Amino acid sequence: MQEKKVYLDNSATTIVNAEVIKEMDPYFSDKYGNASSIHSFGRQTKEALNNSREKIASLLNANVDEIFFTGSGTESDNIAIFGIVNTKDKKGHVITTKIEHHAVLYPCQHLEKNGYSVTYLDVDKEGVISLNDLKQAIRDDTVLVSVMHANNEVGAMQPIEEIGTYLQTINANRKNKVYFHTDAVQTAGKVCLDVKTLKVDLLTMSGHKFYAPKGIGVLYVKKGTKIKPITFGGSQENALRPGTENIPYVVGIAKAFDIANANLEENDKHVLFLREQLKEGIIKKIPEIIINGSGNRRAISNILNVSFKYIEGEALLVMLDMYGIAASTGSACAIGFGGSHVLQAMCVDPVSAQGAIRFSFGQYNTKDDVDYVLEQLPKIVEKLRLMSPVYKKF
Ligand SMILES: Cc1ncc(COP(=O)(O)O)c(C=O)c1O
Repeated sequence: MQEKKVYLDNSATTIVNAEVIKEMDPYFSDKYGNASSIHSFGRQTKEALNNSREKIASLLNANVDEIFFTGSGTESDNIAIFGIVNTKDKKGHVITTKIEHHAVLYPCQHLEKNGYSVTYLDVDKEGVISLNDLKQAIRDDTVLVSVMHANNEVGAMQPIEEIGTYLQTINANRKNKVYFHTDAVQTAGKVCLDVKTLKVDLLTMSGHKFYAPKGIGVLYVKKGTKIKPITFGGSQENALRPGTENIPYVVGIAKAFDIANANLEENDKHVLFLREQLKEGIIKKIPEIIINGSGNRRAISNILNVSFKYIEGEALLVMLDMYGIAASTGSACAIGFGGSHVLQAMCVDPVSAQGAIRFSFGQYNTKDDVDYVLEQLPKIVEKLRLMSPVYKKF
């Protein structure tokens, strides 16, 4: 039985911070009222809901009535996309990128099947879109631009502020506003998010990427944005996301976001140090590797995506798991969907893309974790390569 465990899959999900659990705990037992009820039990949880909304609004530099709690990052993305296009009588045009998470790509594909038109922007070899391409893609009937803040497989950050500035300029002279959404699931709690600086109309976050539980998300919607709900029921969350609010999780995401924002620099330095240690160690110890997205100056600090040529990423993951090391071949949600659409968009050759692994660091990882991986990984890669017919051929 393997005893040593190293978790390097923090971009898939994180452990829940003990302080967050402590903050949530009373809302499972003592403070369990429905926040819509007028009695004291309800008022108690309503207060927690209001305080949590205020906390998140202030950390995002937003107004309280611009914050909507949802059940996940996926749900926030879906509300943002369908919620905007549904306000139009005509089936308009949406612009997104080829490297979005499936929580954005699949809604866009669904729109296409229903008569909308979607442009998927290319990225360069570092995984970044070109602002020029975006400018050229804008049409008279464009209703929405959805570009992720940082990519979940390679960490590449997109020029959100520049896009926001450009859209503000053209919107001044347009009859139909082009709304701007960003999926900030991989940056929330890792970099400072200021919706006014980013100049976005809608922004998605998901709690389980920054030490809150799974199953709680946030959608920021700028005041004045014309948006329709995609589910119907009660009047919770201003009827944009009806359903009884999950108060313990709402309290949890607000606490986790608060803690993360109070420690942004320190955490960033920590994960960057670990990532660079692992990167340098891999480069030194293992031949025939490619660091995907390596030249990108604008990338989040906790993701390292490496291609180990001539072997299958999945086989490597299974072997790493046998040694107690958890990593990923990219998006956990993409498993079973074939190769990585992100690496494909970055023009990584298919042999290298097949052997790609994402290591993603979190605040609880240590140098000892990296040393252990550097001890085991070269042996595992060598073993797999010796069994690989592709390796023998080359
Ligand atoms: C960029 C991005 N968007 C959306 C999601 C979906 O978030 P959730 O798991 O909360 O549905 C993820 C999850 O990995 C992600 O990385």
